[in-house]
Amino acid sequence: MYLILLGAPGAGKGTQAHILTSRIQIAHVSSGDLFRENIKKGTPIGIEAKGYIDRGELVPDETVIEMIMNHLNTPACRNGALLDGFPRTIFQADSLNNALHERFNKGIGRIIYVKVDTDALLQRLSGRWICPVCQTPYHELNNPPKIKGICDHDAAALYQRDDDKRSTAERRLQVYFNQTMPLIEYYKKQGLLLEINGQQSVENVTNDIIEALNVLSMDKEKKDIILGETEESLVA
Ligand code: AP5
Ligand code: MG
Repeated sequence: MYLILLGAPGAGKGTQAHILTSRIQIAHVSSGDLFRENIKKGTPIGIEAKGYIDRGELVPDETVIEMIMNHLNTPACRNGALLDGFPRTIFQADSLNNALHERFNKGIGRIIYVKVDTDALLQRLSGRWICPVCQTPYHELNNPPKIKGICDHDAAALYQRDDDKRSTAERRLQVYFNQTMPLIEYYKKQGLLLEINGQQSVENVTNDIIEALNVLSMDKEKKDIILGETEESLVA
C-alpha cells in the first residue's frame, strides 16, 4: 500500500510518520530527509538541492522524482511506503501515479492531509529540534524530549534545521500555498483524500489518522494491525 502524508511545513508529517511506521510495518520515505542525507554526503543531488532548500524553494521536479523513484525501487519499499513530503506539485503527483502503475501495477492508497493554521505552523517550526540519527522531530514546548536537547530513542544531541529560521519558514509556507495546496483538490476529486485536524495533541492526530484508515479497512485483522496489536504487516 502507498500512503501519502500531505500538509504544510510544520503540520506534523514527520512526527506522525515516525509514530505510524513504529506501529505499521511500512517504509517511511521522507523527501526532505533524503535531501538532507544527500547534502550531508555531498552527493550531486545534495549539491543541487542545497541552494533551493536554503532559500525555502522546491527542488526541481525532475530531481526529486528521480530520487524518490530510485528509493521506491529498493527492497524496503517493495510492498509499499508512507510518503512524507512527496509529491508537492501536480507534476510530481502525475509522475508518481504513472510510475506506480507502470513499475508496480499499483495506485496510491490514500492521502492523509494534515491541516493546521498558519500561525501554529510558524510557532511549531521555530521551536522544532530534530535528532540527527533517527530524524525524530521534537518541539521545545509542545513535544519536548524526556531530557532537554537529547533524543529519547538514541541519546543523540538534537539540532535545529537552518530552513526553520523565520524568513525561510515564511517562504516555505508561501511556496506550499502556491505549489502544493492544489494537490488537495486534485486528490479530493480522485476520492483519495482523508482530511485530518492537525491542530490537536500529537496523540489525538495519530488516533484520528488510524480511525480514518480503519474506516477504510474495517475487517478486524487489519484494524488490529493498524492499532499495533499484532506483529503482522499491513502492507498489501
Ligand atoms: P521537508 O523536510 O519535507 O520539510 P517540510 O515539508 O517543510 O515539512 P517539515 O519537515 O518542516 O514539517 P513536518 O510536517 O514534517 O512537521 P514535523 O512533524 O517536523 O522539506 C524540506 C525542503 O526540501 C523543502 O523546503 C524543499 O526545498 C525540499 N523538498 C522536499 N520535498 C520536496 C519535493 N517533493 N519537491 C521539491 N522539493 C522538496 O513537526 C513540526 C514541529 O511541530 C515539531 O517541532 C513537532 O514536535 C511539532 N508538532 C508536530 N505535531 C504537533 C502537534 N500535533 N501539536 C503541536 N506540535 C506538534
Ligand atoms: Mg518533516
